[in-house]
Parts: sequence; C-alpha cells; structure tokens
Amino acid sequence: MAYSTAGPVVAIVPAAGRGVRLGESAPKAFVPINGVPMVRLAVEGLLAAGVVDEVVVVVPPEHVQSSAELLPEGIRILEGGPERIDSVRAGIAAAPEAGIYLVHDAARALTPPALIARIVTELRAGRAAVIPALEVADTIKSVDLLGGVTATLNRSELRAVQTPQGFDGELLRRAYASVTDGTDITDDAGLVERVGARVRAIPGDPLAFKITTPHDLTVAAALHAAQAGKTG
Ligand code: C5P
Repeated sequence: MAYSTAGPVVAIVPAAGRGVRLGESAPKAFVPINGVPMVRLAVEGLLAAGVVDEVVVVVPPEHVQSSAELLPEGIRILEGGPERIDSVRAGIAAAPEAGIYLVHDAARALTPPALIARIVTELRAGRAAVIPALEVADTIKSVDLLGGVTATLNRSELRAVQTPQGFDGELLRRAYASVTDGTDITDDAGLVERVGARVRAIPGDPLAFKITTPHDLTVAAALHAAQAGKTG
C-alpha cells in the first residue's frame, strides 16, 4: 500500500506521566535539565528539525495553565489521561487532519533534530510507520516472577526502540480507533503492528535515550552542558 501523507506534520508530545522512577516531586516532563524543563527541550528539538507544522503537548491536568509559560509560543497544550495511550489519543483527537504524526516522549529531551528530520524523510518517501531503534549491547533474558531465567533471547534480532515514532496520519488514527485493551502496549508502533501495518526501524541515536532514573538525569545534564559548551 502506498501512503500519501498529504496534510500537515503534527508532533504529539506525551508529557502527562508522573515519572515516579525519577524520584522528583514534579511530573517527569517538568523536571529541569540545567534549568530547562525536559518538555521544553523536547519541543525545541522538534521545532529545530524544521519538518514539523504543529506541536501538541499533552500534560497533567494541573499543568495545563502553567505549561503555556514554559513552552514556546504557538504550541497547543492539552490535558492528558491516566495512561500514555490516553494522552496520545487526546493528541490525535485534537489534530485529526494530520497527514503525518510524530509521537515523541517529552522524556527523550535531548533527541537530535537530525533524527527527527530523518523519520519524516522516510515517511515522505512512502513508508507508513518509521521508528528509531538501537542495537542492544547487553544480553537480554526473560525471567519469571521469582527471577528464574526462562530464556536467552537472540541479541542480534533485538532493538531498543526510541521516539519520535512517525506514522501516516490515517494509519495511526485507524490503529488507535481499533484499541480495546492496550494495557500491554508500550509504544505507538505496537498498536500499528496490531492492525497489520509494516513498521520500519531506522538507526536511532544514543542521545534520544529516555530519561527515567536519577542516573539518567545526571547523564542528561552532563550531555546538555557539553552541547551548550559546543554551541554557546
Ligand atoms: O512512563 P514513561 O517513561 O514510559 O512515559 C513516556 C512518556 O509518556 C513520558 O514523556 C510521559 O510524560 C508520557 N506519559 C503521558 N501520559 C501518561 C503517562 C506517560 O503523557 N499517562
């Protein structure tokens, strides 16, 4: 099937998570990296890519008002839901005319704009769903509830998946419309796979890592400072 991707490129930024693993009192997306909230860094990366027509940021209900001051002008701000899937769904509903959606976690605050632009280039070339993915360095095993190893997976076939994940607009709307449970789905491509579409993985970037733990926050601050030193 050829995908037309006619219509605007809409980036949806789910930023409504509580982020308890980070151990901060603010929701994760609002935790600053060297003074700049993660969600702002993520949005600036999307804008710098030069391929996005509209950005929709989905935040916790109590942050809708204050987010307007944190974010660049012209960004739409919506209230998120209890699960990530609910927050993305709210973003899709607010921009039903998109030809392409990019779904990009606020927690991947340091994602290089060049990676974002590459995802859109692949979609424009006719792919329906494109995700950035990295080879895994560690051996990955499955374990049972008691920690007993149940299998050793073939590392060469495994990838750690990042965002932004890019989709033909009609395909992502259809994938979300088909969701009835969704509890075991941890990324948007997973929903698209369920409706039978082919998802293409392209090389991701280590800088697009998800900031989840206090360790990640320390690493992100060091990387951000190093980048600022190069450009400033
Ligand atoms: O919790 P996790 O790190 O997987 O969250 C990934 C992204 O999804 C984060 O940017 C988080 O703010 C967002 N999220 C959301 N709504 C939720 C849960 C998570 O927008 N209910």
